[in-house]
Amino acid sequence: MTSRPVIEDLSSFWMPFTANRQFKSAPRLLQSAKGMYYQTTDGREILDGCAGLWCVNAGHCRDEIVAAVQKQVATMDFAPTFQMGHPLAFEAASKVAELMPAGLDRIFFTNSGSESVDTALKIALAYHRARGEGQRTRLIGRERGYHGVGFGGISVGGIGPNRKAYSGALLPSVDHLPHTHNIDKNAFSKGQPAWGAHLADELERLVALHDPSTIAAVIVEPVAGSTGVLIPPQGYLQKLREICTKHGILLVFDEVITGFGRLGKATASEYFGVTPDLLTMAKAINNAAIPMGAVAASRTIHDTIVNAGAANAIELFHGYTYSAHPAAAAASIATLDLYKREGLFERAAAMAPTFEAAAHSLRDAKHVKDIRNLGMVAGIELEPRDGAPSARAYEAFVKCFEAGVLVRYTSDILAFSPPLIVEEAQIAKIFDTVRRVLATVE
Ligand SMILES: Cc1ncc(COP(=O)(O)O)c(C=O)c1O
Repeated sequence: MTSRPVIEDLSSFWMPFTANRQFKSAPRLLQSAKGMYYQTTDGREILDGCAGLWCVNAGHCRDEIVAAVQKQVATMDFAPTFQMGHPLAFEAASKVAELMPAGLDRIFFTNSGSESVDTALKIALAYHRARGEGQRTRLIGRERGYHGVGFGGISVGGIGPNRKAYSGALLPSVDHLPHTHNIDKNAFSKGQPAWGAHLADELERLVALHDPSTIAAVIVEPVAGSTGVLIPPQGYLQKLREICTKHGILLVFDEVITGFGRLGKATASEYFGVTPDLLTMAKAINNAAIPMGAVAASRTIHDTIVNAGAANAIELFHGYTYSAHPAAAAASIATLDLYKREGLFERAAAMAPTFEAAAHSLRDAKHVKDIRNLGMVAGIELEPRDGAPSARAYEAFVKCFEAGVLVRYTSDILAFSPPLIVEEAQIAKIFDTVRRVLATVE
């Protein structure tokens, strides 16, 4: 293992969602990865407590996925999917469709979660227009929701800093449900909190305010990840589904994080027994080996749009050069086969109680204000430092990295979502490290 940084000059790369000056004054550089571990450029091993960025669900550099990508880029590097096709695109779509809730078997490929969200919002608008309700243009998101960084996604998203600089250019017809997080009621809940289903009734309030005839879709993350792991209260998603159905509003589940085994099922929809009309995904769709995302649409939505015009007319004026890129499709096919062969979703379900117990064992650790979890995702919320929000969690994140464990932090919350191949001893190491680190953080 080399112990030299791969590059000395860090100035050209404008890093995303990063304090660039802070990072470049003390960089953390990863060089290789295998299974549960990263290796840094200075030769240290880092246990991956968050599957990269909630995406490497099968663990890093899996041989089958690597081989599929290598073979594909050497066989056919690129093929267009506008008025052309290639077999892997169709095969990948069929395999994704097999994992979706019943009826959501029409798959539109994108290259990221953000693109998936904007695609789903556009499909929702196109669907209403195709069936003669083009006045349904309003989109409802949720406070603290994260739906990527496109203009659609930040408009329905509910994280202030992600919207602030662009506030003058957000989509005009958007409203937001309240978020479901309430530490006074639900602190240290294991799994779904008991309190809060009634917050879904706020949708009735928005429907009354705007009139249902103006509302196209409601979009939520079934489990909100990036905002700091907010678990839906028992019965909440079911209520949202009922209200949407009652008023002809489409329900979109953003499953960019929850898809592909994170909750021990193929989708959160399956886990909760609530079927949306559109489902967005990305990340673990191909173990993050090549950028890829997708939207699963119900047959009704697909058929309404596709059958609306003449057979030789393009039905949806939308798509990306790299939609179903051959290498991404090959990676997806290999990944979905791997999930099945190794029973990784079932493994996640079986490991979830151990993960839950380990996370909640930090209840008495220094600074801990709340712990919440579901499946193989957990969040530990810290008391913020006076006058310096997120500084404490940032320090904990850096110290964990120095101690050989990668965690994620957002505001004053530490988030955990290891690859689904994680072993019990590795779960223990992740949370033991966090406990030790928190003891040293002021
Ligand atoms: C729920 C959700 N939607 C959308 C996105 C955006 O995905 P991407 O960063 O691939 O654009 C994310 C990213 O974490 C996400 O968690």
